[in-house]
Amino acid sequence: MSERPVESLSESEAAEELKRLAAEIAEHDRRYHTEDAPTISDAEYDALARRNLAIEERFPDLVREDSPSRRVGAPPAEGFAKVRHAVPMLSLAKAYTDQDVADFIERGRRFFDRDRDLDIAFTAEPKIDGLSASLRYENGVLVQGATRGDGAVGEDITANLKTIADIPKTLKGSGWPEVIEIRGEVYMTYAEFEALKARSAAIGGLDYVNPRNTAAGSLRQKDPAVTASRNLKFFAYAWGYTTADPAPTQYDSVQRFAEWGFKVSPLMVRAKSIDELIAHYHRIEEQRSSLGYDIDGVVYKIDQLELQRRWGFVTGEPRWAVAHKFPAEQAMTTVQKIDIQVGRTGTLAPVARLAPVTVGGVVVENVTLHNEDYIKGFDSNGQPIRDGIDVRIGDTVVIQRAGDVIPQIVSVVIDMRPADAVPYEFPHTCPVCGSPATREINEKTGKEDSRRRCTGELICAAQAVEGLRHFVSRGALDIEGLGAENIDLFFNAGLVKTAADIFTLKDRRPAVTKALAERREEQARLREAASGKTRKNVRSVEERNYEGLDKLFAAIDARREPELDRFIFALGIRHIGETTAAVLARQFSTIEELIRVGKETAKAEDPHDVFPSINGIGDTVINALRDFFGNERNDAVLDALLAQVHPKPYVVEISAGSEVSGKTVVFTGTLEKMTRSEAKAMAERLGAKVAGSVSAKTDLVVAGPGAGSKLKTATDLGIEVIDEDTWLQRIGRGG
Ligand code: IVH
Repeated sequence: MSERPVESLSESEAAEELKRLAAEIAEHDRRYHTEDAPTISDAEYDALARRNLAIEERFPDLVREDSPSRRVGAPPAEGFAKVRHAVPMLSLAKAYTDQDVADFIERGRRFFDRDRDLDIAFTAEPKIDGLSASLRYENGVLVQGATRGDGAVGEDITANLKTIADIPKTLKGSGWPEVIEIRGEVYMTYAEFEALKARSAAIGGLDYVNPRNTAAGSLRQKDPAVTASRNLKFFAYAWGYTTADPAPTQYDSVQRFAEWGFKVSPLMVRAKSIDELIAHYHRIEEQRSSLGYDIDGVVYKIDQLELQRRWGFVTGEPRWAVAHKFPAEQAMTTVQKIDIQVGRTGTLAPVARLAPVTVGGVVVENVTLHNEDYIKGFDSNGQPIRDGIDVRIGDTVVIQRAGDVIPQIVSVVIDMRPADAVPYEFPHTCPVCGSPATREINEKTGKEDSRRRCTGELICAAQAVEGLRHFVSRGALDIEGLGAENIDLFFNAGLVKTAADIFTLKDRRPAVTKALAERREEQARLREAASGKTRKNVRSVEERNYEGLDKLFAAIDARREPELDRFIFALGIRHIGETTAAVLARQFSTIEELIRVGKETAKAEDPHDVFPSINGIGDTVINALRDFFGNERNDAVLDALLAQVHPKPYVVEISAGSEVSGKTVVFTGTLEKMTRSEAKAMAERLGAKVAGSVSAKTDLVVAGPGAGSKLKTATDLGIEVIDEDTWLQRIGRGG
């Protein structure tokens, strides 16, 4: 991923980039919070969020309504009722070093300076790596349990939480407040996690990534019986709304929770000095690997509730608490072999298969080796590359997982290298189809691309199947019920070879039924073998009524007239993402026109003689179009596809008579009735040109609150300035 430095972005590029980041981060949020299946590491996620912030700092005008910087955590998933927390559920500031901890204590001392002889105490306890939950007790009875959600609004998962043995349904003892929200962490032990994984593997079921994500998934079950089967645990460590303090201090409050029937961490202590806190941190760290559940640091809190209240909060975090994180966990293992995976665009991706090793509670068996140069440790000019590592089969390696989902190799233990280990020879042919695999020269830099790619394109089964998966994916044709799994099945059964075959599947109903039935049989067989039970009432394949199949065929038929931009994106042409596909759709209006221009461009000596100059489309895309439309093999595929599918022409409803038609408009400041991109799209539909900066060519400036330098330039140049409402009236949308 080559990223442009933020300082070099123009305003319109920044707007594009913010849009892309908002979508990308939202997708990762969804994978993390809603699916509990993240695909990037925390560090990579943070890098995206930081880039978003850096661009917003440079272009405060461009901050989007849906900007990730305006959200905390993920919105609640659909399906559960929402619960507004009476007192928000906060997160914790982090400390990584002893110095960070000293700074935290120093800030406290300074804050309470006027009270010099104040006796500040702290608590120290493990930071459990699970999910927080809030449990509302009224008169000692559990009435509602909720997830954290975005901190303000969570999900009502009362029924699921009630299945957890560590959570009392009614409080024991006496003296509890009339109403109190007890907060703590739901987690899964390693033993339970491994047992679940083994049960699942036996039936060929889901693979589970780590205990935390699995606990999250277990809590979000529609059926509480499933949650119950997962044997989740709970530690109470805090509280939200309450009609009375449980006790005057944090420590004593948590001890009261234990009296009321909760499990509380046995590793919680009260301490007076930084030395005591750090000593306890190391004690907990020593016990970490034998606790049987994931912890990722130690939480320090000011003990006296009175002082907690005085010191208060910053955005989303208490000032009076900090989480002292553990360094990333590392482990040693050996590289057993190196496999090459082939992606949609033919990229050969090397993966090291490791002797399984547990790091941070998760068994790691694979780790990416990125590309050819990374494995050698230097590039094709012999220059050492950053983070590159000379990894060989048989090597002992140190791997690390920093609360991250994606493990990485930190180093090779050269002293332990077998005498006969040889440098890895990266294949120059595709392991799937045997076509030559080459490295392209980047036209801009003149350097070789670090990736080697298979040149087999559609004759390569790996590329073909990845291409089909892409074709039906969400931003593309988005065919319901036809996910990656079914594509693989149909491809392997020889039922779908190219995208056109998807639309004729219906004609091969018996074969489709057979493929699905065989898969079911296989799964049932595995399940049986795992449980030792035999099935009763086995129905024959013919007897089965695949109601699902009619639905699938209907979903396929429903996509025979896709929007042009989706269709272009679905073709999977290199470098053509959703945004570029939309630009092309707008420019060419019909697929026929895009094909015509694409083919002519492919034939032309200089593509610029044929291909129009379009804002946002550069040489990389033009060359990709040339390659695609110049390749005869793609002709047949496209023809067959277009015999089945008729992309809708892209209609731009330019109202010629519009008052703003032909004018150059600039939006600045905050828009209150629509987002920037809506405003832009609307203006363009009316035939206006939307510019990013004000110049003598500007006809009209629409300024909202917070407008700055652009407004000033406009006034200086004597350009007409109107507000959002006037704009809406002018384009006939005013109320
Ligand atoms: S106290 C007012 N104590 O860490 C402070 N949180 O990064 C509220 N967590 O959302 C949190 N162990 O899920 C606290 N012993 C502990 C914790 C703990 C784990 C989690 C909790 C919270 C997150 C904040």
